[in-house]
Amino acid sequence: MPYPNISKSLDLLNRAETLIPSATQTIAKGPTQFVRGVAPVYLERGSGAKVWDVDGNEYIDLNMAVGPLSLGYCYNKIDEAVREQLEKGMTFSLMHPLEVEVAELISRVVPNAERIRYSKTGADVVSAAIRLARAHTGREKVLCCGYHGWHAWYAGTLPANAGVPDGVKRLTGVFAYNDIESLIEKLDESVAGVILEPAIFEDPKNDFLNQVRQACDEKGAVLIFDEMWTGFRLDLGGAQEYFGVDADLALFSKAIANGMPLSVISGKAEIMDLLENEVFFYTTFGGEALSLAAAKATIHEIEENDVCRLVSERGQRLKDELNELIASIEADYLACVGFPCRSLVTINHKEIDALLIKSLLQQEMIRCGMLWSGFHNLSFSHQDSEIDAILEAYKECLPITHKAVSKGAVEESLKGDPVLPVFRKTKY
Ligand SMILES: Cc1ncc(COP(=O)(O)O)c(C=O)c1O
Repeated sequence: MPYPNISKSLDLLNRAETLIPSATQTIAKGPTQFVRGVAPVYLERGSGAKVWDVDGNEYIDLNMAVGPLSLGYCYNKIDEAVREQLEKGMTFSLMHPLEVEVAELISRVVPNAERIRYSKTGADVVSAAIRLARAHTGREKVLCCGYHGWHAWYAGTLPANAGVPDGVKRLTGVFAYNDIESLIEKLDESVAGVILEPAIFEDPKNDFLNQVRQACDEKGAVLIFDEMWTGFRLDLGGAQEYFGVDADLALFSKAIANGMPLSVISGKAEIMDLLENEVFFYTTFGGEALSLAAAKATIHEIEENDVCRLVSERGQRLKDELNELIASIEADYLACVGFPCRSLVTINHKEIDALLIKSLLQQEMIRCGMLWSGFHNLSFSHQDSEIDAILEAYKECLPITHKAVSKGAVEESLKGDPVLPVFRKTKY
């Protein structure tokens, strides 16, 4: 199979780079994450688990819009719900009944969702939760673990932290997943809230989440689960249900509306009720009806079709067979890890830069019709036939990559610029 012709993609990228700083609105979709000169840069349409780029090339998508497409592109029932709402109006001058219906639905399926509010982005509801934790405790510091968006309280911890006041930076500390000591040593009576992604690619070990819960209870800190990735994916009720641990506040977006922009803060009434008068959190598009219609249909579809279990079964097969394949060619620097619904190929070679190996594997996977950047963000539309096709592509691309690694010829095998880390330590 030849490498795709991506000339229209590259023309668009050149135009973007004169006008749009970093060319992208979403770093994981942007040009630094794909081999420049080989990988498509702009997609035009999708259907199920497939996408077509602006040059007309077809791929199986393993990113799925970086999380939102829990069911798949152009998924009929969701699109119908959106179309039906579109006929009646997008956003209104008074509240819309869907605000109530979707809140009731979330409250039924998500543990501890005694109160619900909506917004548009993950960062919105994360920041609302941080403010609530501060208001509830009368304290200012927060501790975090994972990625939590672009707002100041968190961006101060990133390499690109210019523009965040030092006073704000000082209020946020970080701790490490599965390292309870790294939390305990920072968690004192000045900490308002502890926020974490309850799982990323690692399983919690030594009862980590319960230990975090207990540590928060001992110091009076609010426990916040950032469920952008775990929500409506690990389980219908998210990580609280999957791991059997209660958070005080739980935050959702991504998978909840199959691609429409909606985020949700849910949690215990005694904290959430501060949103009545004390804590200010309002936004123009919060009750926008198309996204709420999509969320209602998406949650019903996930529940009725046992989507989380089925995606997990298919993802487990992908993981298992991929790890068998890796073992069969003795590429012991590779492994497929993570949860079946969202797994990752890790690369740990003693001598060769992991990003170079990733770039070569990506280059070859793209040639085989896979939009791949290391992850398997599976949707309900990745059925057995898609899993078969993904495994076939690995069967072709892994030996090519491994051969180049064994010969020390990775860099010279690349036909474009290698990918960069998501967060660059320096600008260049
Ligand atoms: C765990 C987590 N929290 C927060 C966010 C921020 O969400 P958004 O980009 O919608 O603001 C993201 C986005 O990727 C995320 O993965």
